Amino acid sequence: MSTDRLAHLQALRERALEGGGRSRIDEQHKKGKLTARERIDLLLDEGSFEEIGMFVLHRSSDFGLDKQRYLGDGVVTGYGRINGRQVLVFSQDFTVFGGSLSGAHAEKICKIMDLAMKLGVPVIGLNDSGGARIQEGVVSLGGYADIFLRNTLASGVVPQISAILGPCAGGAVYSPAITDFVFMVRNSSYMFVTGPNVVKTVTHEEVTFEELGGAVTHASKSGVAHFAVENEAECLQGIKKLLSFIPSNNREDPPFTECTDDPQRKEESLNTIVPENPNKPYDMKEVIKRICDHGELFEVHELYAPNLIVGFARLGGYSVGVVANQPSVLAGVLDIDSSIKGARFVRFCDAFNIPLVVFEDVPGFLPGTDQEWRGIIKHGAKLLYAFCEATVPRLTVITRKAYGGAYDVMNSKHIRGDMNFAWPSAEIAVMGPKGAVEIIFRKEIENAPDKEQSVEQKVTEYREKFANPYIAAERGYIDEVIAPSETRPKLINALRLLENKVDMNPKKKHGNIPL
Ligand code: HXC
Repeated sequence: MSTDRLAHLQALRERALEGGGRSRIDEQHKKGKLTARERIDLLLDEGSFEEIGMFVLHRSSDFGLDKQRYLGDGVVTGYGRINGRQVLVFSQDFTVFGGSLSGAHAEKICKIMDLAMKLGVPVIGLNDSGGARIQEGVVSLGGYADIFLRNTLASGVVPQISAILGPCAGGAVYSPAITDFVFMVRNSSYMFVTGPNVVKTVTHEEVTFEELGGAVTHASKSGVAHFAVENEAECLQGIKKLLSFIPSNNREDPPFTECTDDPQRKEESLNTIVPENPNKPYDMKEVIKRICDHGELFEVHELYAPNLIVGFARLGGYSVGVVANQPSVLAGVLDIDSSIKGARFVRFCDAFNIPLVVFEDVPGFLPGTDQEWRGIIKHGAKLLYAFCEATVPRLTVITRKAYGGAYDVMNSKHIRGDMNFAWPSAEIAVMGPKGAVEIIFRKEIENAPDKEQSVEQKVTEYREKFANPYIAAERGYIDEVIAPSETRPKLINALRLLENKVDMNPKKKHGNIPL
């Protein structure tokens, strides 16, 4: 090999590393943003990145594009390792045409995704893009569609994780939306179908970038983002943490870690965590943390519908998906947003063989015209459907209320819960005592000389008879009534039992979840 040829290769590589040029890189840094390659370096194990498609160029000549060609065409693609595990990654380079998507740029992403599917390797997309490359017109739109198709086909086959690290406009939002998890960085990342200027023209609303499609908006209002983090480093760290709980594909089990927290540890403080007064709230996150390995819960969608908690944790080293009502927010009631949040999480866990552990304290579905008119029936049905179809190991702990339809929905025995536990404080009934006595003893109460006293007496009677776990246990709907302190060992022993669980759904093309 002549040294000239090697020098030429080296020169090309160096040119590619410059992206859109020094001044645009400086601009990127001034905005507090990293470059596409700096992000990859932070994400992957040191020195593990292998680039694919470094010399790809766009093939467009309209609007003077033939004079502006940048090696790699605005996206860095390749593979590497995170904590020793293979991942495929693409990282859009805002310094090249604002990271906008050309036909060639799309082909590079598609190549990564095709590989991911064949190899069973997760795909991580670092998005920083002004959307369709306007000069390329329909070629760019076609490129997006090629990506959307692959996102959809890969869904449930390999995990897909999106980080939004800059603007994400137009078509650029739909690919992340199909992926499993979306991370956004506060004050520097935006997602919207149309930006504030178009909004102003069409609806006359004045809205800032941040209000319309910033991280907090999407993490708390729309639910489009699962995580809102402070900065890019935290974002990339978050992706690594998330990956530690999930398998590389749908044929693998999630990673098991040796457990240094005693699996048989009893937690006496749990025996007094549920207040005597059933209307008093308590923090379900405390319950979860005291039970799980090292008190760790990696919460997903923390800011969205906080009346339901979802997230990953470990029990005896097993990775589990936790779904829990939160009595300290709206009494833990199930509403539209929490049903959708829970359903999506349950389906992710089921698709990727992650056992589900449910902590239940739910007074029912939220009543009211707002919820009814917006479709609590069909949205609540999503959560029901998701649990019904899940075939992973499924455990439930009823800590207090399990009322009405919500009892059925929250991983009950009837819909294939494998091991259903209840604490002695559990109240498993069609509805709460007060509502129940006002219906079934209406006439008696009306005719009573002291109505209030009559209600109180009936409530006490009802509570003694129904507001406990023993009638359900008598029927076998509850497998075991346990002391709260025993919850950790009981769950871990059940997970061990269920390690090789096999369950099937009837063969079909696909179900029809009530969307
Ligand atoms: C080509 C683009 C571009 C695009 C930005 N650039 N967006 N080039 N196509 N879509 C270029 C700019 O010309 C500029 O080039 C460089 O990227 C940086 O852009 P700036 O505007 O200077 O940066 P900034 O002020 O930070 O604003 C970023 C931005 C803005 C908010 C993303 O550029 C913007 O609004 N872009 C257009 C967004 C958009 O409407 N996209 C199309 C959506 S429609 P120079 O050479 O000056 O550095 C769509 C349809 C797909 O995507 C539908 C599929 C379902």
